[in-house]
Amino acid sequence: MLIYENKLTAQEFVCLTESVGWGCPDLKQIEIALKNTIYSISVEMDGKIIGMGRIIGDGARIFYIQDLVIHPYYQNRGIGSKIMEYLLSYVDKLPLINCSIMVGLMSAKGKECFYERFGFKKRPNESQGNGMILNIIK
Ligand SMILES: CC(C)(COP(=O)(O)OP(=O)(O)OC[C@H]1O[C@@H](n2cnc3c(N)ncnc32)[C@H](O)[C@@H]1OP(=O)(O)O)[C@@H](O)C(=O)NCCC(=O)NCCS
Repeated sequence: MLIYENKLTAQEFVCLTESVGWGCPDLKQIEIALKNTIYSISVEMDGKIIGMGRIIGDGARIFYIQDLVIHPYYQNRGIGSKIMEYLLSYVDKLPLINCSIMVGLMSAKGKECFYERFGFKKRPNESQGNGMILNIIK
């Protein structure tokens, strides 16, 4: 298994989203999205990219984990967890002290337990309301 930092391409991204049934996003849109990504991980096995994950955010206070995807053939082998470790380690190593940092994500339905293992808490809870989204179709 080879793990790459900040090498994820739009083509690899689209192949992976297609592999898990998330459809085929526009390649140009993904190129822009990856250019504006803070940190990405891609994983190669058997000569091809089979997993990815990325961090977006403001680089200091707020980060979001996005697009954690493992090709179905390679799931349940610990690769998603390995990518999570890399993503969280990136935030952990930021040269910031005495700061509060929030790392958020939108869990796919049924994947909450996977993220809870890394310390993420479900919303709503006693002190926080629902996460909310607005989808815009252009
Ligand atoms: C969610 C996702 C990224 C997890 O990736 P993964 O590589 O399968 O994750 P892991 O293998 O690290 O962990 C998955 C499960 O396998 C188990 N596992 C980990 N290593 C294992 C191993 N060596 N052998 C067997 N099982 C293992 C884990 O305990 C975990 O159990 P869980 O299903 O109860 O959480 C993957 O299922 C995926 O891409 N899904 C489709 C896209 C998606 O929904 N992405 C999440 C968006 S929020």
